[in-house]
Amino acid sequence: MARQLRLLSASDLNGTLRMQDVLQHVERAFGERGLGRSEMPAKTYLHFPQHDGVLLVMPGSLPQMEQAGVKLISVHTRNPVVHGLPTLLSTIVLISPDTGEPVCIMDGSYVTGMRTGAATGVATKLLARKDSRVLGIIGAGFEGPFQLEAVRHVLQLEKVLVNDLIAEKAKNLAALARGFGLSARACETAEEVVRSCDVLVTATPSDRPIVKDEWMHEGMHLNCVGSYAAGKQEIESAILRRAMVVVDDWEQASHAGEINVPVSNGEFDRSGVYAELPEIAAGLKPGRMDDAAITVFDTTGLAVQDVVTAWAAFRVAEERGLGTVIDALFR
Ligand SMILES: NC(=O)c1ccc[n+]([C@@H]2O[C@H](COP(=O)([O-])OP(=O)(O)OC[C@H]3O[C@@H](n4cnc5c(N)ncnc54)[C@H](O)[C@@H]3O)[C@@H](O)[C@H]2O)c1
Repeated sequence: MARQLRLLSASDLNGTLRMQDVLQHVERAFGERGLGRSEMPAKTYLHFPQHDGVLLVMPGSLPQMEQAGVKLISVHTRNPVVHGLPTLLSTIVLISPDTGEPVCIMDGSYVTGMRTGAATGVATKLLARKDSRVLGIIGAGFEGPFQLEAVRHVLQLEKVLVNDLIAEKAKNLAALARGFGLSARACETAEEVVRSCDVLVTATPSDRPIVKDEWMHEGMHLNCVGSYAAGKQEIESAILRRAMVVVDDWEQASHAGEINVPVSNGEFDRSGVYAELPEIAAGLKPGRMDDAAITVFDTTGLAVQDVVTAWAAFRVAEERGLGTVIDALFR
């Protein structure tokens, strides 16, 4: 019998998931990938130069979990001024592997925030020192609250320090952290954040390094979230050369992640990468082994993170009767 198709808007989805559950789903997805039990063809790009736009297509499948889907991300830079729309629009289509039917079309921004936070959370759990107490966040935009939410579930945090080019945004994220009972404040400089934190998140679209090697100290863990395209870089290459570097996926990271600039100019290569996070999540390699090491996680975002998180949100939406349902699309 034909399945129904559920449509879920951003407001339908908001609040459907708990970060502690998404951390488990994303860790499982990484583990499945590490064991070779996922399919995730490279991101495909469609260009619309006449509209200053590009569309990214990210398909992914987790056969053991009977979950598949495709995320579509449009980046149209004229949208805010010309059309009153955000620059970035993302849509996820969930496919039922047994019949190939689409079972859900949802706004992708909430799932992206949750799964990107969860990737940082899983990496922090596996790579940060267990006694890390201070989280630093540089870049307090859309992703910031999800990053905070994930890290506070994997560490016994005491303090959060935030820096953003827009002071108001840093203050708002610090206020959110205080709402969780943490000591938190906005810092005027990135240097103050880096020098004082145990775990750092960089979540900016910067194309020149913000974090300097001379600010680093022993035992730190860095989650580099912001780099998403060739030419983007948030931390100095010298940090990578002396750190234990873990990427989510070598192909994606070397083309678009934090390591892409040093790889393209010959300052860094695959021999400098300790592991892909899926290998550690699958138990094939250990995480942090040395309390003094600096660890870096370069996350570009894997389609399997979207698939597993979106299916979890879809299941909750089904239970709660959220969204709009279309009967039998193909009849
Ligand atoms: N790795 C992944 O899986 C993944 C997923 C989603 C988004 N991203 C990337 O993460 C970045 C952040 O995403 P977002 O949705 O939060 O964007 P956003 O535009 O909402 O927020 C970015 C924030 O960074 C701040 N910023 C910019 N340059 C800065 C600097 N030099 N110092 C301090 N703050 C600075 C901005 O003021 C802004 O508040 C983007 O580059 C995005 O493409 C990565």
